[in-house]
Amino acid sequence: NAMFSWQRTFFHFQPEGNWMNDPNGPLYHKGWYHLFYQYNPESAVWGNISWGHAVSRDLITLAYISAYAMVPDQPYDVNGVWTGSATILPDGRIIMLYTGDTIDGVQVQNLAYPANLSDPLLLNWVKYPGNPVLVPPPGIGPKDFRDPTTAWLGHDGKWRITIGSRVGTTLGVSLVYTTNDFIKYELVDRFLHAVPGTGMWECVDFYPVSVHGSKGLDTSVNGHGVKHVLKASLDDTKMDHYAIGTYFSNNDTWVPDNPEEDVGIGLKLDYGRYYASKTFYDQNKERRILWGWINETDTEANDLAKGWASVQTIPRTVLFDHKTGSNIIQWPVEEVESLRLGSTEFNDVLVEPGSVVELEVGTATQLDILTEFELEALGSEKATISEEGCGGGAAERSSLGPFGLLVLAHQSLSELTPIYFNVANSSKGSREAYFCADEKRSSKAPDVFKQVYGSKIPVLEGENFSMRVLVDHSIVESFGQGGRRVITSRIYPTEAIYGAAKLFLFNNATSANVKATVKVWRLNSAFIQPFS
Ligand code: FRU
Repeated sequence: NAMFSWQRTFFHFQPEGNWMNDPNGPLYHKGWYHLFYQYNPESAVWGNISWGHAVSRDLITLAYISAYAMVPDQPYDVNGVWTGSATILPDGRIIMLYTGDTIDGVQVQNLAYPANLSDPLLLNWVKYPGNPVLVPPPGIGPKDFRDPTTAWLGHDGKWRITIGSRVGTTLGVSLVYTTNDFIKYELVDRFLHAVPGTGMWECVDFYPVSVHGSKGLDTSVNGHGVKHVLKASLDDTKMDHYAIGTYFSNNDTWVPDNPEEDVGIGLKLDYGRYYASKTFYDQNKERRILWGWINETDTEANDLAKGWASVQTIPRTVLFDHKTGSNIIQWPVEEVESLRLGSTEFNDVLVEPGSVVELEVGTATQLDILTEFELEALGSEKATISEEGCGGGAAERSSLGPFGLLVLAHQSLSELTPIYFNVANSSKGSREAYFCADEKRSSKAPDVFKQVYGSKIPVLEGENFSMRVLVDHSIVESFGQGGRRVITSRIYPTEAIYGAAKLFLFNNATSANVKATVKVWRLNSAFIQPFS
């Protein structure tokens, strides 16, 4: 379908057509990365949920290999083959656990495995004939029991999985089960964790991170120098929330480092349009990789007209940020750098208060941009910005900001998306920085939901403000301060498309100069196509 064809992404994964949501069961096997995803093979709206399947040698150039890796064809999943996770056992066997929506509309957990483990492409999947292996336990609603995690091995030699749910309507919880064989399970008599007021937890993710190391950890690793990330996708906020804490394997509970930054009330994995993410351990390169779903923000009618809906993010590596000690770091996998074509550098570009400066890079629809900003205050007045820091958007000026990039910007500035920092003096006299994305002027199309997104961001003593931005036609992924905060935008330019898309620096501070050093690569397409 040619309609809105300029919105198609060229290095982000999206199916050839129809609806996609959550990433499912990512794994590495015999030289191939596998990405499964919630897929409607028939239409661009949610329904008939099956597992689509794509494979890749390098995580970036994915090939569609099946729209029907698993289909809803059994009483225990006939209303949908929903989200699930893979576990690779020490002997190499692969366990896939997924949620089935049954013929009675009950959420149950099912077991599947590859028909032929020696097939690197894992084309055929067998559903265990004794499914379901888990049904909602007493006290848990039949529609509040979904999205099993990757399993980890406990101190007692038993495997564990956790599954998000809620108790009543508001207490968000994650249940833990132990198992020896992935067929019979025992419910642990306490929650891994529970947070009042957070509602239903979907797509829970639970994994270790190394406090000092620069490698990812396999899911069962625990002990000294290890913290655990607990992530829940909240049905109420439609955001992925996480917290860092300690996993106590003796009683299968997890406790946040900072109770004020607990799951659902603290950090978000991504402050933009992003949901239902999932990590996996890549044993090939010893790293933990995160995939997330970028949903649409236009109307269902538009999705039907264009014949597709949704994109997956660029896979990101996840590490603990030992500099701040309080967040994870997300960074595009190094393989994305193989798409880099020519680069252009701009050094110490002075951007004066209230000005924009074009960065001439040719067509600016597929870019990898690295930027550092030095902020020089000209006056002595205190910078005060609105409470939320990003709230008013990039047009709301104060003495020290906002400043940053205008991506997917038309020459006339009729359409533009500012990715920026805003800075204020805190009551304690120190500076507070915010990292933001303002979609309000990103599109002239009607019926598009446009929002200002962002978060306070740690900028440490001696650091400049820095960001990396990936631009791919209608997707902008922005990484602040080396990946301490991330914002994904799904935008719908109508004029800033193809050769009309440009890149600018801007400085909307009233009394500060900004000096920017920018390196911009044009990115090649990833040539995502059917497997051949
Ligand atoms: C999250 C989710 C999951 C569920 C799946 C169904 O987006 O609602 O909880 O398993 O999507 O497609």
